[in-house]
Amino acid sequence: MVETCVVVGAGVAAFGFVNTIREAGYQGRVVLVGAESVLPYERPPLSKQYLTGRKDEDALLFQPVSFYEERNIELRLGTPVEEIDLQRRVVRSADGNELSFDMLVLATGATPNRLPVPGAELAGIFTLRSLEDARALRAALAAAERVVVVGGGFIGCEVAASARTLGKQVALVETLPVLLGRALGVEIGSAITRVHERQGVALYLGRRVVGIEGRERAERVVLDDGTTLPCDLVVVGIGVRPVLPAVVGDLRFDDGVVVDATCATNVDGVWAAGDVARWWHPRIERFLRVEHYDNALAQGAAVAKAVAGQPEPYDAVPSFWSDQYDLTIQQYGYPVEWDEVVVRGDLDEPAFTAFYLKDGRVYGAVIVRWPREMRPARRLVEQLAQVDRTLLADPSVDLRQLLA
Ligand code: NAI
Repeated sequence: MVETCVVVGAGVAAFGFVNTIREAGYQGRVVLVGAESVLPYERPPLSKQYLTGRKDEDALLFQPVSFYEERNIELRLGTPVEEIDLQRRVVRSADGNELSFDMLVLATGATPNRLPVPGAELAGIFTLRSLEDARALRAALAAAERVVVVGGGFIGCEVAASARTLGKQVALVETLPVLLGRALGVEIGSAITRVHERQGVALYLGRRVVGIEGRERAERVVLDDGTTLPCDLVVVGIGVRPVLPAVVGDLRFDDGVVVDATCATNVDGVWAAGDVARWWHPRIERFLRVEHYDNALAQGAAVAKAVAGQPEPYDAVPSFWSDQYDLTIQQYGYPVEWDEVVVRGDLDEPAFTAFYLKDGRVYGAVIVRWPREMRPARRLVEQLAQVDRTLLADPSVDLRQLLA
């Protein structure tokens, strides 16, 4: 009998998988089971070009249905998996159907956190993760004037920028003292905060939402210092958590599915990729879980090679970009605590490259409006280069001279 590989989830990591599995030489049956009823699509435009109307749905699909047919990939979309039984090796979907597997790929991603306050269930409060979420938000935004964004991470910053671009009044509430503080730290987060301020976003930093009020719809957001923000709609982007259907069997799960350097779980023939996977990064020798597009795509491809019988350590340098107004924030590197941030260029402009150093080595870099530094900065991170910080800070020094 032909071997069956079931992929649970049909998002970015699943697409990375199917895009590689046949090229990697796998000839078994491949079945993609996804909760959403759309073909795998690109998520990054949802909070940007899609929300501002510069891109429509058709432009979001990775590939048309013919791509899956040509590769003999079976699609079971719109069928959320309810249970994964690792002992009987079957997945059961919400419609009661069971599907047996020999190999299993967990690509179930993450789900947005809900705001734990009274009024959070009112109409007019949105999260943004799926195309369906984005459709609803785009329609509501067209009719809204005053937008309150809760959370100043990636979703919050990108949605605030999109809403300002559409001419809406935007207030943003964040518990940390700066925007993007979790990912970029205080110094670089402050530079991004000033950009939003100059673009006219009313910022409520270091503040918490304690309630949302309104008769049927959200009309006011109440903060912990008593401030009341009137609104037509609220967007909540306060982080995500990894999700899995119910599992029968002994699968290691600890803030994500725990996998080794080849993305294999503790259960034979079961792998994980994307936002749900916490893998052992062989280069920096620690577990990482990364919630960005580039990683989902590349890790899905790495798992495809493993399923096809060529497992390799997955040691990609994590990277992401974020478009806000006319800025692109490009980041390379490892989300580890750093000792020091060295900046070349101008944080106020902003046009700079920032390096995140730990024990004198380059663990991360953020580049804003300095495209020619992207490639050497990335190389410095790949090499975990040990560099002279005075040279690093001097923008007249060509970064290529610092490469090993
Ligand atoms: P996030 O983790 O990027 O940011 C969440 C923010 O909400 C943090 O700044 C946190 O301090 C703040 N926060 C938490 N609880 C709060 C509360 N009660 N009140 C106010 N602020 C609160 O998560 P986000 O923005 O929800 O994005 C979801 C996921 O999607 C993330 O994994 C993110 O990396 C990913 N994403 C990545 C993008 C990119 O790479 N360009 C774009 C959009 C999303």
